[in-house]
Amino acid sequence: MIAAVTRGKPGTAMQGFANTLNKEEIEAVVDFVRREFMQNKAPNTAYHTKENGWPNHRQYAPAFPFALGQIALDEPVDNLTEQQRLGRRIFMQSCVTCHDRGRVHDEGVIWDPRPVSFPRNRYSHRAPEASTPTDVTSSATPYARHEQAPVLNNPTPREREGERLFQQNCAFCHAPDGTGKNWIGSFLEPHPRNLTDPENMREMTAERLRGVIRNGLPGTTMSAWKSVLSPSQINSIIAYINKAFYPIRNLQGKKENGGLDR
Ligand code: HEC
Ligand code: HEC
Repeated sequence: MIAAVTRGKPGTAMQGFANTLNKEEIEAVVDFVRREFMQNKAPNTAYHTKENGWPNHRQYAPAFPFALGQIALDEPVDNLTEQQRLGRRIFMQSCVTCHDRGRVHDEGVIWDPRPVSFPRNRYSHRAPEASTPTDVTSSATPYARHEQAPVLNNPTPREREGERLFQQNCAFCHAPDGTGKNWIGSFLEPHPRNLTDPENMREMTAERLRGVIRNGLPGTTMSAWKSVLSPSQINSIIAYINKAFYPIRNLQGKKENGGLDR
């Protein structure tokens, strides 16, 4: 407090008093504020007084527990007495503007990163600009950059085939860049796995990839592809994931050991 009075609080209306008061005076005024306002709290220093326009503050007593955080504002109504329900109503009508809320059980979602709308007017990030009207709202999104497939360096025919199959079948959810951070991927719960994230991919083997792609992950939107894609096509996708997104362990081994056997 002495520092605040001496130097002020930059960026606020609180100015420093070093040029106005000497050291002893600053100490004296801080002592006074601490003793009278913070320790003794004399009734006439309260905010809710007749002088401040709050005659008979006690009449709002049922709302006090909500102002003081003794009862959470989102306490289920069924748990409240008649008196407490009245207090909650008063609080919401007349007190919440200044008191915000004393306490809640559930802080709720402060910032939800999920998108709230689909592309408008059939706008596509992928279509060449000339063929679709530019939508200034949709195109200026963080999703657009995940709509680009990586450029492959010297791909084998198998990797090329995998690229085509992945971009046709998987990119819709996992994003062309494999991150799952495209528009649709951001909607899905759980999110499609980020196939470029070392956290997810470090332990990934060709064998596990094959199993997941063949059988899907029950309870998620990751469906089983075994009746859609042939074993060879699935191998091509694995080769593509290895090339484009993250190096897969034991990829080069014999088929019996989980490799692609090529
Ligand atoms: C215009 C702003 C404002 C409104 C509206 C307001 N308060 Fe306050 N209230 C304050 C301030 C400022 C304090 C003092 C905070 C402190 O000293 O930390 C306070 C303190 C309190 C306290 C604790 C100290 C005391 O005097 O008992 C209670 C309880 C309280 N308010 C209840 C209420 C209730 C109930 C309502 C609605 C009927 C309400 N307040 C509406 C600004 C407001
Ligand atoms: C309809 C959306 C959707 C499509 C299409 C889709 N996936 Fe998935 N995929 C998901 C979701 C969601 C998860 C994450 C599930 C989870 O976290 O439990 C997932 C998870 C995965 C995983 C991680 C498995 C693990 O064990 O970590 C791989 C690999 C994968 N998908 C590959 C593919 C491939 C390859 C294709 C195309 C053949 C594809 N997915 C198509 C939604 C999709």
